[in-house]
Amino acid sequence: MRTIVIASGKGGVGKTTFALNISLALGKYGRQVILIDGNFDSPHIGLMLGKSNFEETIISALEGKDITEVVYKHQSGVKVIAGNISLEHRHKKDIPKFNKLIRKLEEYAEALVIDTSSDTADSIEIIKHATDVILITTPDFISVTETLKLMKVIEQNNQKIVGVIVNKYSGKEYDMKIENIQSLIGQKVIGVVPFHKNVMESLKLKYPVVYSHPQSPATEAFEKIACNMIGVEYKKDEPENKTKTAVVMEKVGLKKWYENLMEEDED
Ligand SMILES: Nc1ncnc2c1ncn2[C@@H]1O[C@H](COP(=O)(O)OP(=O)(O)O)[C@@H](O)[C@H]1O
Ligand SMILES: [Mg+2]
Repeated sequence: MRTIVIASGKGGVGKTTFALNISLALGKYGRQVILIDGNFDSPHIGLMLGKSNFEETIISALEGKDITEVVYKHQSGVKVIAGNISLEHRHKKDIPKFNKLIRKLEEYAEALVIDTSSDTADSIEIIKHATDVILITTPDFISVTETLKLMKVIEQNNQKIVGVIVNKYSGKEYDMKIENIQSLIGQKVIGVVPFHKNVMESLKLKYPVVYSHPQSPATEAFEKIACNMIGVEYKKDEPENKTKTAVVMEKVGLKKWYENLMEEDED
């Protein structure tokens, strides 16, 4: 089983967005994936999927519930173990136990994708058991500097980084160039995800962009990265003869409502 840990030296760079969408994209290409919220301070996976009050979370598993019973399947198809957002559960964080528990998912998944916090101590502890470590950075010198710092700590622990993703890339003159980031960090940039409004729109809709906006440039980037990770050929989805709104409405289960609205418009 691959244990893919998503980490960064700085918050807000897109770890959770990446973890969620890469899980979905891997699933689309037939891989059995479970996404786990390993951010005990600010677990956002549930929120991004429109559900803040999961009955069972990773905390339930740490408290003794069978970990296979805290996995939820979201409408988009992604299987998740959410975190608990309430402040009173924060002290229950136990990463060594977390690392041990998730091994039990071996027979249920080909890969675990673990989202982490930007707390270096926490992410280093989770990375100890990773097969793949993916670092997310944005194309600015602050994020790249923090990436370098985290890489140093990872190397000191004799752990291996698979690659770096540059997220929120605009290609504008104020962005660092990809080749400059690559040479500075001495690591392969394995993917570039554009800064795109569809990602913000999907956040509002509470669906991963790969699901809500199948034709988005951001979706294409996530799917290409997923294909690279598993060594399969990327195939772009043929756009159906529908408007973007129709696709989103259908995905969020409002197809009927939308169709009625359109009929009314035509009258
Ligand atoms: N490629 C992107 N384009 C536009 N907005 C993005 C992109 N990636 C992430 N975001 C937005 O940036 C914010 C932080 O992302 P998040 O995944 O929560 O970061 P982290 O988990 O590293 O703190 C969110 O509002 C998210 O929607
Ligand atoms: Mg996050």
